[in-house]
Formats: sequence, C-alpha cells, structure tokens
Amino acid sequence: MASLVLGIESSCDETSVAVVKDGHKVLANETASQMDLHSQYGGVVPEVASRQHLESLPFLVQEVLKQSQVAFDDLTGIAVTSAPGLIGALLVGVSAAKGLAFSLRLPLATVHHIEAHLYAAQLDADPVLFPALGLVVSGGHTELYHMDDWGQYQLLGSTRDDAAGEAFDKVAKLMGLGYPGGPLIEKLAKSAPEVTEKFSPARMKDKSQDFSFSGVKTAVSLEIKKNPPGDEKAQQHLAAKFQNTVLEEIIHRVRAALGIYKVKSLVIGGGVACNMALRSVLKKETDSFGIDLRVPPPKYCSDNAAMVAGLGAYQLSQGKIASLSATATAYPSSSSPFLLS
Ligand code: KG4
Ligand code: ZN
Repeated sequence: MASLVLGIESSCDETSVAVVKDGHKVLANETASQMDLHSQYGGVVPEVASRQHLESLPFLVQEVLKQSQVAFDDLTGIAVTSAPGLIGALLVGVSAAKGLAFSLRLPLATVHHIEAHLYAAQLDADPVLFPALGLVVSGGHTELYHMDDWGQYQLLGSTRDDAAGEAFDKVAKLMGLGYPGGPLIEKLAKSAPEVTEKFSPARMKDKSQDFSFSGVKTAVSLEIKKNPPGDEKAQQHLAAKFQNTVLEEIIHRVRAALGIYKVKSLVIGGGVACNMALRSVLKKETDSFGIDLRVPPPKYCSDNAAMVAGLGAYQLSQGKIASLSATATAYPSSSSPFLLS
C-alpha cells in the first residue's frame, strides 16, 4: 500500500491532522485540544467546538506537512472522520477535506470514528491478527465487535445507557474534580491500590453482552449524598471503588465474548483505553486466553487524526473512494456499523 494520506479528525473537541505513510507509519500527527475552552462548562459545547475547529485546521494542516516534509503534491489521498460525532464539528472537517480533495484532485476517504479507534492498534505497529475482538471505550461509545478483518464486523454489545468515558466524566463532575474525568479519577484511584471494593455490578436479565454504566454513576451519587468524601483519602477511596466497578463491568463482557469466539487478538481503542488499570486487567485476561492484546499508545487512544489517515489509506487501497458530495452523519445506525458511503 504505497500511499501518503492526510487525515482530519474534528468529531468532538480535538482538532487533529496527520500524515500517514502506507497506512501505518505516522509521519506527523498534531492535535489542538480544546479542553481548556470547554472545561469551564464541565463538558463540550458543540458550537464552541465547531468554531474552534474552523480556526485550528488550516494551521494544523500546514504544520503536519512541514513536520513530515511532505508537499501537497506528494499526497495520494485525503481522509476525514464523517461520523459519528457533533454534527457541526464533523461538518467543519468534512468540508475542509472535500476542499483539499477537490483542489488537489485526490481521492477522498470518509471514515467512521469508532472504526478508526480500532485501526489505531496498527499505527507504527505490526498488522493485527484476525479474527479479533474489538473493544471501543470512549467518551461517546462503549462497543464490542467481532472482527473478521478491517471493514468486516459484527456488533456483539454496546452500552444501554452511558458510555464508559461518559461515566468517568459524570462521576468526576459529581466529585467536583473537573473535565475530562477519566485521567483525574485514574490518578486518585492509583493512590489507593489497597481498595478492592466495588459497587454492585450491572447484570442484564437477558444475558446479552451489552454494557451498562448508569447504575454505578447513581451509586456514586447516593454515596456522596450519604457520606460526602471529606478529605483526599476519602476521594481516593471513592474513585478507586468507582473505577474497580467500571473495570469489572468491561472485563465481565470481554471474558464472556472471549469464551465464545475463538480469536487471535483483542483490539482496544478510545480514550478510556489510556487507563493503565484497564490495560493491566485486560492483559491478564488475554494472557489467560493465550491471545494478543493490541492497544495503541495513549497518544493514539484518544482522538487523533493518525487513526483516520491510516484507516482512510486502507479504504482507498480497497477502492473505497467517497464521493465529493459526501456529508457528515451524527448518529449512524449502530446495527450496521461502519458502513459509510
Ligand atoms: O476517544 P476519546 O478521546 O473521545 C471520544 O471519542 O469520546 O475519549 C475521551 C474519553 C473521556 O470521557 C475521558 O474521560 C476518557 O476518554 N479518558 C479516560 C482516561 N483518559 C481519557 N478514562 C479513564 N481513564 C483514563 N486515563
Ligand atoms: Zn474518539
């Protein structure tokens, strides 16, 4: 796959642009985080995000071309996240990508953000061995797939309520910690390794492989009302108890799926995959099944454009070229994942 693809990611609150060679080698990946802008509101404000993407994109495109020493004329394709995400934010990236593809006469690839999170596992790394299970745990998604190859997926389970990252963010807000909550809770929990307690687990009556995180959020809220954590030690205890519960919820579903499907790898992606405690429990699990754990380094777990450029390059190599009338979709149907025109 001899290619040089420029990728654009603008689905939520990170503006990111990357240049990826041959679908896996990252030549440059730069992200302008809007975290400070949104943290004062305790969450992402869609219109603020769109306007910021508009401002940041031209600068980032120039920056990654400079860093990778690639000229516009060297590029072989343009890739962009077109779903799912905040519609205004997505449209900024899609419009920019279409403009570049049109003016440079390059093929365009429209990429599904969740699929790109899984593809991140093979950036600057060996190809993933299939069949595989794919787990995406991010601020907006918690989904488990059976994967026969890139582009061939079966959805096994998804969250019935909050996404895993959303639960971290909401609980951090309840605890008065700030946004995004995941890294803050992980830090507190790390200081209380002796805490093994958990809140009651969510169990589906129909034995499905779906996830649920709203129960633990309610449990934390009740605990705070009943017993407000007065000092740092109490905060650490609560954070650890919450994190243990979330990890248990994830592991329970993954273990059940690994017991059913004979796979060669478990691929994980999304911002929550930055969590070292999660990585470590998943590693124990994959070791016990004798399979590969494929988890990207943290910089490719959270939102980034390298995963978009990589997957875009793969799609283009398969002849999957998007039309210049392609648009963005905020909520594509999850029953037919990753089928973008
Ligand atoms: O994939 P991502 O960057 O954006 C989405 O597509 O949603 O994920 C962001 C989410 C946030 O909810 C954040 O709190 C969570 O990932 N997160 C973490 C950690 N780092 C980021 N959750 C738990 N532990 C972490 N270390
Ligand atoms: Zn994401």
